[in-house]
Amino acid sequence: MGKVMVFDHPLIRHKIGIIRDENTNQKLFRELVSEIAMLMAYEVTRNMELVEIEINTPMCSAKVEKLRDDKISIVPILRAGLGMVDGMLNLLPNAKVGHIGLYRDHETLKPVPYYCKLPDNIGSTHVIVLDPMLATGGSACAAIQFLKDKGVSCIKFMCLIASEEGIKTLSEAHPDIEIYAAAKDKEMNDKKYIIPGLGDAGDRLFGTK
Ligand code: PRP
Ligand code: URA
Repeated sequence: MGKVMVFDHPLIRHKIGIIRDENTNQKLFRELVSEIAMLMAYEVTRNMELVEIEINTPMCSAKVEKLRDDKISIVPILRAGLGMVDGMLNLLPNAKVGHIGLYRDHETLKPVPYYCKLPDNIGSTHVIVLDPMLATGGSACAAIQFLKDKGVSCIKFMCLIASEEGIKTLSEAHPDIEIYAAAKDKEMNDKKYIIPGLGDAGDRLFGTK
Protein backbone atom coordinates (compact mmCIF):
# COMPACT_ATOMS: atom_id res chain seq x y z
CA MET A 1 0.00 0.00 0.00
CA GLY A 2 1.25 3.52 -0.83
CA LYS A 3 1.39 6.34 1.68
CA VAL A 4 -1.96 7.15 3.30
CA MET A 5 -2.20 10.14 5.59
CA VAL A 6 -5.26 10.95 7.69
CA PHE A 7 -4.97 14.39 9.31
CA ASP A 8 -5.19 14.76 13.06
CA HIS A 9 -4.71 18.53 13.38
CA PRO A 10 -7.31 20.06 15.75
CA LEU A 11 -8.19 22.88 13.31
CA ILE A 12 -9.00 20.37 10.60
CA ARG A 13 -10.95 18.09 12.97
CA HIS A 14 -12.95 21.10 14.18
CA LYS A 15 -13.86 22.25 10.67
CA ILE A 16 -14.70 18.71 9.51
CA GLY A 17 -17.15 18.51 12.43
CA ILE A 18 -18.92 21.63 11.17
CA ILE A 19 -19.25 20.48 7.55
CA ARG A 20 -20.67 17.14 8.69
CA ASP A 21 -23.53 19.01 10.46
CA GLU A 22 -26.71 19.02 8.34
CA ASN A 23 -27.53 22.49 9.75
CA THR A 24 -24.42 24.05 8.21
CA ASN A 25 -25.66 26.26 5.38
CA GLN A 26 -24.33 26.33 1.83
CA LYS A 27 -22.21 29.46 2.31
CA LEU A 28 -20.43 28.18 5.40
CA PHE A 29 -20.07 24.70 3.90
CA ARG A 30 -18.39 26.14 0.80
CA GLU A 31 -16.08 28.38 2.85
CA LEU A 32 -15.01 25.51 5.10
CA VAL A 33 -14.38 23.05 2.26
CA SER A 34 -12.03 25.66 0.78
CA GLU A 35 -10.35 26.38 4.13
CA ILE A 36 -9.78 22.70 4.93
CA ALA A 37 -8.21 22.22 1.48
CA MET A 38 -5.89 25.15 2.21
CA LEU A 39 -4.84 23.71 5.58
CA MET A 40 -4.22 20.30 3.99
CA ALA A 41 -2.10 21.89 1.24
CA TYR A 42 0.53 22.68 3.85
CA GLU A 43 1.20 18.96 4.35
CA VAL A 44 0.49 17.76 0.82
CA THR A 45 3.18 20.12 -0.54
CA ARG A 46 5.78 19.13 2.06
CA ASN A 47 8.11 17.46 -0.47
CA MET A 48 7.60 19.90 -3.32
CA GLU A 49 10.62 21.12 -5.23
CA LEU A 50 12.42 24.37 -4.33
CA VAL A 51 14.87 26.28 -6.50
CA GLU A 52 17.53 28.67 -5.27
CA ILE A 53 17.33 32.26 -6.51
CA GLU A 54 19.32 35.38 -5.75
CA ILE A 55 17.54 38.50 -4.44
CA ASN A 56 18.51 41.70 -2.68
CA THR A 57 17.32 42.19 0.88
CA PRO A 58 17.38 45.83 2.11
CA MET A 59 20.80 44.90 3.55
CA CYS A 60 22.65 42.85 0.91
CA SER A 61 22.23 40.25 -1.80
CA ALA A 62 21.12 36.83 -0.60
CA LYS A 63 20.27 33.38 -1.89
CA VAL A 64 16.70 32.35 -1.04
CA GLU A 65 14.45 29.45 -2.02
CA LYS A 66 11.41 29.59 -4.25
CA LEU A 67 8.70 26.95 -4.68
CA ARG A 68 8.43 25.57 -8.21
CA ASP A 69 4.67 25.93 -8.11
CA ASP A 70 4.55 26.36 -11.87
CA LYS A 71 5.39 22.64 -11.88
CA ILE A 72 2.27 21.75 -9.90
CA SER A 73 -1.12 20.96 -11.42
CA ILE A 74 -4.27 20.63 -9.41
CA VAL A 75 -7.05 18.58 -10.94
CA PRO A 76 -10.50 18.75 -9.33
CA ILE A 77 -12.94 15.96 -10.14
CA LEU A 78 -16.14 17.79 -11.16
CA ARG A 79 -18.30 18.86 -9.65
CA ALA A 80 -17.49 18.61 -5.97
CA GLY A 81 -13.71 18.87 -6.36
CA LEU A 82 -14.22 22.47 -7.53
CA GLY A 83 -14.95 23.41 -3.92
CA MET A 84 -11.33 22.69 -2.99
CA VAL A 85 -9.66 24.65 -5.82
CA ASP A 86 -9.62 28.17 -4.33
CA GLY A 87 -8.13 26.96 -1.05
CA MET A 88 -5.30 25.26 -2.94
CA LEU A 89 -4.70 28.25 -5.21
CA ASN A 90 -4.42 30.53 -2.17
CA LEU A 91 -1.20 28.68 -1.31
CA LEU A 92 -0.13 27.69 -4.84
CA PRO A 93 -1.10 30.71 -6.95
CA ASN A 94 0.93 29.59 -9.99
CA ALA A 95 -0.38 26.04 -10.10
CA LYS A 96 -2.03 24.96 -13.34
CA VAL A 97 -5.61 23.72 -13.10
CA GLY A 98 -7.04 20.80 -15.09
CA HIS A 99 -10.61 19.49 -14.87
CA ILE A 100 -11.96 15.96 -15.06
CA GLY A 101 -15.75 15.56 -15.12
CA LEU A 102 -17.13 12.31 -13.71
CA TYR A 103 -20.46 11.50 -12.13
CA ARG A 104 -21.43 8.37 -10.30
CA ASP A 105 -24.28 6.56 -12.05
CA HIS A 106 -27.07 6.13 -9.49
CA GLU A 107 -27.85 2.54 -10.57
CA THR A 108 -24.43 1.03 -11.24
CA LEU A 109 -22.50 3.39 -8.88
CA LYS A 110 -19.75 3.38 -11.51
CA PRO A 111 -18.12 6.67 -12.64
CA VAL A 112 -19.27 8.06 -15.98
CA PRO A 113 -16.81 10.47 -17.69
CA TYR A 114 -18.27 13.61 -19.29
CA TYR A 115 -15.52 16.26 -19.47
CA CYS A 116 -11.74 16.57 -19.52
CA LYS A 117 -9.47 19.57 -20.03
CA LEU A 118 -5.89 19.30 -18.83
CA PRO A 119 -2.85 21.58 -19.07
CA ASP A 120 -0.76 20.80 -22.19
CA ASN A 121 2.37 19.71 -20.36
CA ILE A 122 0.64 18.01 -17.44
CA GLY A 123 2.96 14.99 -17.72
CA SER A 124 5.92 17.07 -16.55
CA THR A 125 4.11 18.44 -13.48
CA HIS A 126 3.28 17.07 -10.01
CA VAL A 127 -0.46 16.52 -9.97
CA ILE A 128 -2.76 16.83 -6.96
CA VAL A 129 -6.23 15.37 -7.62
CA LEU A 130 -9.01 16.94 -5.55
CA ASP A 131 -12.35 15.45 -4.55
CA PRO A 132 -14.04 15.92 -1.16
CA MET A 133 -15.38 12.34 -1.10
CA LEU A 134 -13.63 8.98 -1.57
CA ALA A 135 -16.50 6.48 -1.25
CA THR A 136 -16.20 3.28 -3.33
CA GLY A 137 -13.05 4.74 -4.88
CA GLY A 138 -14.39 4.27 -8.42
CA SER A 139 -14.23 7.97 -9.39
CA ALA A 140 -10.73 8.51 -7.96
CA CYS A 141 -9.39 5.34 -9.63
CA ALA A 142 -10.86 6.38 -12.99
CA ALA A 143 -9.49 9.95 -12.78
CA ILE A 144 -6.02 8.73 -11.81
CA GLN A 145 -5.97 6.12 -14.58
CA PHE A 146 -6.94 8.85 -17.00
CA LEU A 147 -4.02 11.01 -15.85
CA LYS A 148 -1.59 8.10 -16.09
CA ASP A 149 -2.80 7.43 -19.65
CA LYS A 150 -1.87 11.07 -20.40
CA GLY A 151 1.68 10.45 -19.16
CA VAL A 152 1.43 11.76 -15.58
CA SER A 153 3.66 9.82 -13.20
CA CYS A 154 3.64 11.88 -10.01
CA ILE A 155 0.14 11.98 -8.50
CA LYS A 156 -1.29 12.69 -5.05
CA PHE A 157 -4.97 12.32 -4.17
CA MET A 158 -6.52 14.68 -1.64
CA CYS A 159 -10.00 14.31 -0.15
CA LEU A 160 -11.93 15.48 2.90
CA ILE A 161 -13.72 12.27 3.87
CA ALA A 162 -12.49 8.83 2.86
CA SER A 163 -14.19 5.51 3.52
CA GLU A 164 -12.00 2.60 4.56
CA GLU A 165 -13.16 0.73 1.46
CA GLY A 166 -12.27 3.68 -0.80
CA ILE A 167 -8.76 3.92 0.62
CA LYS A 168 -8.23 0.18 0.14
CA THR A 169 -9.57 0.17 -3.43
CA LEU A 170 -7.58 3.23 -4.48
CA SER A 171 -4.32 2.16 -2.88
CA GLU A 172 -4.58 -1.33 -4.37
CA ALA A 173 -5.36 -0.02 -7.86
CA HIS A 174 -2.68 2.71 -7.69
CA PRO A 175 -0.10 1.77 -5.03
CA ASP A 176 2.28 4.46 -6.33
CA ILE A 177 0.09 7.43 -5.35
CA GLU A 178 -0.13 9.16 -1.98
CA ILE A 179 -3.57 9.56 -0.40
CA TYR A 180 -4.36 12.47 1.94
CA ALA A 181 -7.69 12.51 3.78
CA ALA A 182 -8.91 15.01 6.36
CA ALA A 183 -10.98 12.25 8.00
CA LYS A 184 -11.64 8.53 7.59
CA ASP A 185 -15.05 6.89 8.09
CA LYS A 186 -15.64 3.16 8.54
CA GLU A 187 -18.92 2.59 6.77
CA MET A 188 -21.07 3.21 3.69
CA ASN A 189 -24.81 2.69 3.32
CA ASP A 190 -26.46 0.48 0.65
CA LYS A 191 -26.31 3.39 -1.83
CA LYS A 192 -22.58 3.74 -1.13
CA TYR A 193 -22.85 7.05 0.70
CA ILE A 194 -20.27 7.44 3.45
CA ILE A 195 -21.61 7.04 7.01
CA PRO A 196 -21.57 9.34 8.95
CA GLY A 197 -19.99 11.30 6.07
CA LEU A 198 -21.48 14.66 5.16
CA GLY A 199 -24.12 13.74 2.59
CA ASP A 200 -23.79 14.65 -1.07
CA ALA A 201 -20.83 17.03 -1.30
CA GLY A 202 -21.73 18.40 -4.75
CA ASP A 203 -25.33 19.13 -3.77
CA ARG A 204 -24.25 20.85 -0.54
CA LEU A 205 -21.64 22.99 -2.35
CA PHE A 206 -23.90 24.04 -5.19
CA GLY A 207 -27.38 23.93 -3.59
CA THR A 208 -28.73 21.44 -6.10
CA LYS A 209 -30.96 19.65 -3.56
C1 PRP B 1 -19.21 12.25 -5.71
C2 PRP B 1 -17.88 12.69 -5.15
C3 PRP B 1 -16.92 11.77 -5.87
C4 PRP B 1 -17.71 10.48 -5.98
C5 PRP B 1 -17.24 9.56 -4.89
O1 PRP B 1 -19.43 12.83 -6.93
O2 PRP B 1 -17.62 14.05 -5.32
O3 PRP B 1 -16.53 12.24 -7.14
O4 PRP B 1 -19.09 10.83 -5.78
O5 PRP B 1 -17.84 8.31 -5.02
P1 PRP B 1 -17.02 7.02 -5.43
O6 PRP B 1 -15.77 7.02 -4.62
O7 PRP B 1 -17.96 5.91 -5.03
O8 PRP B 1 -16.77 7.04 -6.90
P2 PRP B 1 -20.80 12.65 -7.75
O9 PRP B 1 -20.70 11.46 -8.65
O10 PRP B 1 -21.95 12.64 -6.79
O11 PRP B 1 -20.84 13.92 -8.67
P3 PRP B 1 -20.90 15.48 -8.30
O12 PRP B 1 -19.55 15.86 -7.77
O13 PRP B 1 -21.22 16.12 -9.60
O14 PRP B 1 -21.99 15.68 -7.29
N1 URA C 1 -20.53 11.11 -2.96
C1 URA C 1 -20.85 12.03 -2.02
O1 URA C 1 -21.01 13.23 -2.33
N2 URA C 1 -21.03 11.61 -0.77
C2 URA C 1 -20.87 10.33 -0.40
O2 URA C 1 -21.04 10.02 0.80
C3 URA C 1 -20.52 9.39 -1.39
C4 URA C 1 -20.35 9.81 -2.67
